[in-house]
Amino acid sequence: MVLTLLLLLLLPAASRARDTITPGQPLRGNDTLVSSGAGSFVLGFFSPPGSNSTYVGIWYAKVPVRTVVWVANRAAPVRGAASESAGATLSVSSECALAVADANATVVWRSLSSSSPRPCAARIQDDGNLVVSDQRGRVVWQGFDHPTDTLLPGMRLGVDFAAGANMTLTAWASPSDPSPSPVVAAMDTSGDPEVFIWNGPAKVWRSGPWDGVQFTGVPDTVTYKGMGFSFRFVNDGREATYSFQVRDAGIVSRLVLNSTGVGGGLMQRWTWLDVAGAWALYWYAPKDQCDALSPCGPNGVCDTNKVPACSCLPGFTPRSPASWAMRDGRDGCVRATPLDCANRTDGFLVLPHAKVPDATRAVVDFNSSLEQCRQRCLRNCSCTAYASANLTAAPGRRGCVMWTGGLEDLRVYPSFGQELYFRLAAADLASKGKSKKVSIVVAIAVSITAALAVLLAITGFYIWRANKTKARKSGSSIWAAGSHNKDGSEGKDNGDDLELPVYDFETIAAATEGFSAENKLGEGGFGPVYKGKLEDGQEVAVKTLSRTSRQGLEEFKNEVLLIAKLQHRNLVRLIGCSISGPEKILIYEYMENKSLDFFMFDTTRSKLLDWQTRYRIIEGIARGLLYLHQDSRYRIIHRDLKTSNILLDKDMTPKISDFGMARMFGSDDAEINTLRVVGTYGYMAPEYAMDGVFSVKSDVFSFGVIVLEIIAGKRNRGVYRYSGHLNLLAHAWSLLNEGNGLDLVDENLNGSFNSDEVLKCLKVGLLCVQENPDDRPLMSQVLMMLASTDTASLPTPKQPGFAARTAAAEDTSWSKPDCSIVDSMTITMVEGR
Ligand SMILES: *[C@@H]1O[C@H](CO)[C@@H](O)[C@H](O)[C@H]1NC(C)=O
Ligand SMILES: *[C@@H]1O[C@H](CO)[C@@H](O)[C@H](O)[C@H]1NC(C)=O
Ligand SMILES: *[C@@H]1O[C@H](CO)[C@@H](O)[C@H](O)[C@H]1NC(C)=O
Ligand SMILES: *[C@@H]1O[C@H](CO)[C@@H](O)[C@H](O)[C@H]1NC(C)=O
Ligand SMILES: *[C@@H]1O[C@H](CO)[C@@H](O)[C@H](O)[C@H]1NC(C)=O
Ligand SMILES: *[C@@H]1O[C@H](CO)[C@@H](O)[C@H](O)[C@H]1NC(C)=O
Ligand SMILES: *[C@@H]1O[C@H](CO)[C@@H](O)[C@H](O)[C@H]1NC(C)=O
Ligand SMILES: *[C@@H]1O[C@H](CO)[C@@H](O)[C@H](O)[C@H]1NC(C)=O
Ligand SMILES: *[C@@H]1O[C@H](CO)[C@@H](O)[C@H](O)[C@H]1NC(C)=O
Repeated sequence: MVLTLLLLLLLPAASRARDTITPGQPLRGNDTLVSSGAGSFVLGFFSPPGSNSTYVGIWYAKVPVRTVVWVANRAAPVRGAASESAGATLSVSSECALAVADANATVVWRSLSSSSPRPCAARIQDDGNLVVSDQRGRVVWQGFDHPTDTLLPGMRLGVDFAAGANMTLTAWASPSDPSPSPVVAAMDTSGDPEVFIWNGPAKVWRSGPWDGVQFTGVPDTVTYKGMGFSFRFVNDGREATYSFQVRDAGIVSRLVLNSTGVGGGLMQRWTWLDVAGAWALYWYAPKDQCDALSPCGPNGVCDTNKVPACSCLPGFTPRSPASWAMRDGRDGCVRATPLDCANRTDGFLVLPHAKVPDATRAVVDFNSSLEQCRQRCLRNCSCTAYASANLTAAPGRRGCVMWTGGLEDLRVYPSFGQELYFRLAAADLASKGKSKKVSIVVAIAVSITAALAVLLAITGFYIWRANKTKARKSGSSIWAAGSHNKDGSEGKDNGDDLELPVYDFETIAAATEGFSAENKLGEGGFGPVYKGKLEDGQEVAVKTLSRTSRQGLEEFKNEVLLIAKLQHRNLVRLIGCSISGPEKILIYEYMENKSLDFFMFDTTRSKLLDWQTRYRIIEGIARGLLYLHQDSRYRIIHRDLKTSNILLDKDMTPKISDFGMARMFGSDDAEINTLRVVGTYGYMAPEYAMDGVFSVKSDVFSFGVIVLEIIAGKRNRGVYRYSGHLNLLAHAWSLLNEGNGLDLVDENLNGSFNSDEVLKCLKVGLLCVQENPDDRPLMSQVLMMLASTDTASLPTPKQPGFAARTAAAEDTSWSKPDCSIVDSMTITMVEGR
C-alpha cells in the first residue's frame, strides 16, 4: 500500500514532461512543455516552414501535422531558425511577465502584466491555455485572453468589459509568417453585438447578431449540435463574447481566420479527421455572393436562390433602375410611399427566414415583448424595423432589436433565419396587395386557430388515451412495472417513464382484418408483416414473430422496451406490442413510401428519387446509425443494415428499421455467430461473413454499401457484372481511381446531380467499405465528412472488402442469393424480391 502510494507520488514527476516554468527554470530553445492531463498541447520554439525566424508557440501534441494554434511573439521573432536557437529562452520574471529572449539574452517580446507581489509560474493547460498565476493561484495573464488566429474550444471571441480585454483574431501574414496581417475578426459591440471580418478598413463579412440560438448569418449552426458541438454567447453587460465547446474529447476542432479568400479574409472551421490523417474543412464564411457586405444595398434583399439575387423589399423600388437592370444592386432601394408617422397610419410587414440587417447602429432591448417593441417602433418616427432579440427567452421576454434608417445587408435563406418586421406606409401595406394585409389578418387568425388546435389536440389526446387504456385489458401498467423492477441499476428515468402500449391479440386481429392476405405487406425473416388500422384510425405495420418460442417472455419484454426507448427521427418507432395471443407481435408506425429498395431498384420509381432526395436519405441513415452506435444510451449494432431495412415516410425521410432485432432471436451472440449468421450477403462486412466477428465497423461497412447503391441505383450483388469487376464496390473503387467517379451515377438521374456531393458520397462510401475494419471511419466521422465542403481533403479509400476475389471464387463461395439468409425486414414487398 505504502509502496503504491510512493510510486504514485514519484512516477508522474519522473515520467511526465514538464508543463510549468518558474523564475528559476525558464524554457530553453531546445526544450518543450507538454500539458498534463491528456497531454494535448505542446509549448515550444518553432520556425514555420520556409521561415528564418523563431517563435514561441503552442501546437497540438497528438495531431501529426504540426498545427500552431497560438504564438507569443508573432511580431517580434528571434532571428535564425529554431534549430539554431537552442539558446533562446521563454521565462517568467519576478514581476510576473513572460519574456522571450534570444541567445544573447536580449528580450524580444514581453507580455504586459499587472505586477504581483508574489512570484509567479507559467503553465500550459490541457485546453491549450498558457496561464501565468501567482502563488495564491490568481491568474495574472493568460494566452486565451490574447488569441492569435485560432479559436480553440473554450476560448472567447469578443469583449470582456470587466477585464478590459478585446479578444480578436488576426490572420497570419502568410503560412511562413505568423506576423499580424490586416485581416482581423472582432466583435463589434456598438449595437447588437456581431462579429465582423475586416481586411484593413474594409468589412469582408458580418455574422449578424446572435438570436439566442446562433448568429443569424450562420444559420446552419443548429446542425452541428448533433455532432458534439455546443455554442455559447454571453451578452450580459460585463462581456459580449462567443465561444464553442466539443462534448467528445475525441473531436479536435478549431476556428481559424485565414488571410486568403475572395475578400481577403476567410473564417474556417477545421476538424481533425483521424482516418484521413488530415484536417477537414467543416465550415467557412464568407461563402456565397449574398455573404458579401450589402450586395443589394439599403432595403435590398439578397437571395442566392433567385436570379438575379437582388430584389427590393415589398413597398420599395430600385433607387437607380438602370444599374439594377445591369444586375448591380449595390445602391439599393427607396420607398414607394413616404412614411406617415405623425398620423400613425404606418404598419409592418414580415420578412421570414432573414439574416437581419446590419445591427451596429441598432438599439437592443432585452426586456420587452414583441408587441411592446412594435408599439415602441411605431411611436418612434426614425424606427424602420424590428426583430426578436433572444429566441431562447420566454415568449414575452424575447426583447427586440430596432433599426433606424436604411436596412443594410439583408439576405434571406430557404429555411432557418429570423422574422424581420419592417415598416411601410399604409398605402404600400394595402397595395402590397390586399394579399399582404390579408396575410397579417390571416396570420393572427391562424395563430388563434393554431392555439385552439393545440388545445383541442391536447384534450383529444387525453380522451383518446383514456379510451385506449380502457380498451386494453392487459393494462400497460403491469407491463411497465414488470420492466423496470427487473433492472434497478438502470435508474429511475430509464424504465418508469416508458409506457409501451400492450394490445390484445383480438385488437390486432381486428386491425389487420384477421391477418388477411390482402393486408400482408411482406415476409420478414421471422414471420409475415401486415398493414393494420387501429381503432383510432392510425395506420400501423404489424409484425408477427412466429419463431421466437426459444425466447422467454421476460427477455422479450426487455428487448422490446430497449427498442421502445430508442427514439430518433431516423429510426422507425415502435408503437406497441402484443403478447397475449399465440404469437408475439410488434406494432410499428406505418411508412407510406415503403422501403428504399422498393424505390431504388425499380426503373420507373427510381426516377422519383432525385439526387437531393438521395443525398438527404444518405444523411438521414448516417444520423440514425450514429444514434444507434453512440448517441443513444445503449450501444447498439444493427447487424442487418440494407436498403430493404431503410423505410421511407411520406416525406421520404429515411427510417432505419429492425434495429437490434437480431439479439431477440438467437439467445446469445456467440450462438448467432456460429449457428446462423444474421445478416444479408452483399451488405455484410468480410470479417463478419468470414469469421463472425462483429463491431460497429461492420455496420459502417453495410452503410457504405448502401451509399454506393444509392449513387449507382444498382444492387451490390445483382445479376450484373460490373465491367469485369466482381461487384459494385470494386467497380466504384476503380472508377474513382481512374478519376471517372461520376460514371457510377444512376442513369435514371439523367445527369441532374451535384457532382461535388456525388464525389463526396462516393469517397465516403468507399472509405466505409474498406477491407480492414480499422481503416473504416466511425459514424461520427462519416457525418463530419458529409458536412465537409472540401472533398479533396478526404482521404483516399483503400481497396474495398471482397474486391480481391475472382469471379470464379465468387460463384462458388457466394452462391446464395441476396435474400436467402435472414431477411427480417418489416415491410419487404413480396413482389420486390
Ligand atoms: C539544451 O541545450 C543546453 C545547452 O545549450 C543543454 O544543457 C540541455 O541539456 C539541452 N536540453 C535538451 C533537452 O536537449
Ligand atoms: C537565414 O539566416 C542565416 C543567418 O542567420 C542566413 O545565413 C541565411 O541565408 C538565411 N536564410 C534565408 C532563407 O533567409
Ligand atoms: C549575439 O551577439 C553577437 C555579438 O554581438 C552577434 O554577432 C549575434 O548575431 C547575436 N545573436 C543574435 C541571435 O542576435
Ligand atoms: C476590439 O477590436 C476591434 C478590432 O481592432 C475594434 O474594431 C473594436 O472597436 C474593439 N472593441 C473594443 C470594445 O475596444
Ligand atoms: C487557409 O486556407 C487555405 C485554403 O483553404 C488552406 O490551405 C490553409 O491551410 C489555410 N491556412 C490556415 C492557417 O489554416
Ligand atoms: C395626415 O392626415 C391628414 C388627413 O388625413 C392629411 O391631410 C395629412 O397629409 C396627413 N399627414 C401626412 C404627413 O401624411
Ligand atoms: C426589465 O423588467 C423588469 C420588470 O419589468 C425590471 O425590473 C428590470 O429593471 C428591467 N430591466 C431592464 C434592463 O430594463
Ligand atoms: C428613436 O429611436 C432612436 C434609435 O432607435 C433613438 O436614438 C431615439 O432616441 C428614439 N427617439 C425617441 C423619441 O424615443
Ligand atoms: C436569452 O435568454 C436566455 C433564457 O432566458 C438567457 O439564458 C440568455 O442569457 C439570454 N441571452 C441574452 C443575450 O440575453
